[in-house]
Amino acid sequence: MLQRISSLKEYQTTYKNSIEQSENFWSEVADNFLWKKKWEKVFSGGFEKADYKWFEGGKLNITENCIDRHLEKFGNKTAILWEPNNPTEQNRKISYNELHEAVCQFSNALEKLGIKKGDTVCIYMPMIPELAIAMLSCARIGSIHSIVFGGFSAQSIADRIQDAECKWMITADGCYRGDKPLYLKKIVDEALEKCPSIQKSIVLNRSNFDCNMKADRDVWWSDIMKDCSTKHEAATMDSEDPLFILYTSGSTGKPKGVLHTTAGYMVYSTYTFLNVFQYQPEQIYWCTADIGWVTGHSYIVYGPLLNGATTLMYEGIPQFPDWGRWWEVIDKYKVNIFYTAPTAIRSLEAQGLKFLEGKSLESLRVLGTVGEPINEEAWEWYHKNIGKEKCPIVDTWWQTETGGILISSLAGVTPVKPSFATLPFLGVEPLIVDANGKEIKEIIAEGNLCIRKSWPGQARTVYKDHERFIQTYFTTYPGMYFTGDGCKRDYDGNYRITGRVDDVINVSGHRIGTAEVENAINEHLDVYESAVVGFPHFIKGQGIFAFVSCEPQPKDIILFKQEVLNIVAKIIGPFAKPDRIEIVSGLPKTRSGKIMRRILRKIAEGEFDKVGDVTTLLNPEVVEEIKKKVKG
Ligand code: WTA
Repeated sequence: MLQRISSLKEYQTTYKNSIEQSENFWSEVADNFLWKKKWEKVFSGGFEKADYKWFEGGKLNITENCIDRHLEKFGNKTAILWEPNNPTEQNRKISYNELHEAVCQFSNALEKLGIKKGDTVCIYMPMIPELAIAMLSCARIGSIHSIVFGGFSAQSIADRIQDAECKWMITADGCYRGDKPLYLKKIVDEALEKCPSIQKSIVLNRSNFDCNMKADRDVWWSDIMKDCSTKHEAATMDSEDPLFILYTSGSTGKPKGVLHTTAGYMVYSTYTFLNVFQYQPEQIYWCTADIGWVTGHSYIVYGPLLNGATTLMYEGIPQFPDWGRWWEVIDKYKVNIFYTAPTAIRSLEAQGLKFLEGKSLESLRVLGTVGEPINEEAWEWYHKNIGKEKCPIVDTWWQTETGGILISSLAGVTPVKPSFATLPFLGVEPLIVDANGKEIKEIIAEGNLCIRKSWPGQARTVYKDHERFIQTYFTTYPGMYFTGDGCKRDYDGNYRITGRVDDVINVSGHRIGTAEVENAINEHLDVYESAVVGFPHFIKGQGIFAFVSCEPQPKDIILFKQEVLNIVAKIIGPFAKPDRIEIVSGLPKTRSGKIMRRILRKIAEGEFDKVGDVTTLLNPEVVEEIKKKVKG
């Protein structure tokens, strides 16, 4: 049985052991899984070449751990509860037995199409159980899934397909988000025009939308499933075989295909899920994230299923048919553990308490947040109105690259402190460095957050670009993993994450590279250059502020701004559209021509007096002009 930490004292002693005897510790955790062959070496390698490996020599299949091993004990237990977008549509309950059959059958179908171990498969689907079935089937046959969030545009899908060299696509006709139809297949069709590498595109009929099925390429999900057996022998995978690629934004360049491997990710997502949420066998767990982001991978699908939990999947949005929907869903399924993002909490808070009337929420035991810092006010509102002051809140800090939660309290076990992620998870050693890369040893500290040693869930590389992986994460501070986040540490050793210190912004919990938005804006023919920065936004956490200089000057400013928004939506996706666009005569630059984003950030934040000395700029006069525009 996996060790469930049940007191602060136990956390402290286990934590000490997990750092001092790291390999022993993780080996004991890993003993609780189904291995086809046990590993030979718990850990090897290091950060210098980023060649760390976990459980080397082990053979396994993650889906046997997610599904098969539970069947004997509780095959009839519900694995996935699905709530549709439209509350009048029939919901679904899928038991572990049924999930097993579906995954086996779809795995056979994928193999029949010719998909092989090591092939990369792009998935672009709505939040329906078939999305989980598709990803698990990929893992079962040893192919590598690359899921693209349903909010991304055709161009973004095409970029990701090309980068990951996907030969296969899994999608659906479309779905409704609230009362708006989303034609996924059409978006995919546009993407695939640029992707000749795709051999087959599998299409699930979710909504009976018209689909233009391309002969030789497009096949219906139901057709390929037809004659396939519901038994399937899972592929034998090495511990370090790739499990999935997930694209994420950084400071520079195109999004990176972060690669996770099999055994370490499995062990880490299982163990964090159990201990952070203190999951108990009969509980109903709901994470509101989208499976297209890492939170959905680790804490809707893999973590919960690996623990034999019941995981709820919701297809829709929080405000449909009204802002009381989430609370209705919690009461309907008697949800015990609820995990969401601060931006959602703030949106719900802004609606007032009327949507909570008549909702009991008494099944709730644990609340969680993820994706961005939570402000104290939102924390208090969540604690009081949703948790009724009796549910511990776990503020979980982690990243696509970390695979699972690295800093968080353990629900009801270790202390909470509003707006602090609090203490490191077992086996995780955070440290704070100053701008020169020197570790700040004092307990009370503020600086950049790094992690000293590898943990099993850590990403192994950037797909096909290991050099970029090393450059991005391991060279800023040699010998450490650099997170890109700033943080503070209090007297008790609690960590408070203050936000990104690089050119990444966090908009409604969506991670967006400012350079990506700039590149999109620069595609407009009238745009000479642009600079994008974040600014505090009451609901979204951060909003996107775009400063644009034009040549020639646009004749119709309103039309121009609309065109800029359309371009960003087309190249990245609607969620990356700037909240504010200012047309300026020039961008502040250093004598060497570098755009001074720091100055623009201060102006966007409304801190007009804190822009600092501008006399050394190439064009100091623009600063006053920009300030005036923004104030006005
Ligand atoms: C931010 C999401 C404060 C952080 C799981 C990180 C947080 C980025 C928290 C990763 C939190 C995530 N408190 N900030 N509890 N959780 N972040 O890759 O800036 O989409 O670097 O992974 O989100 O975003 P990603």
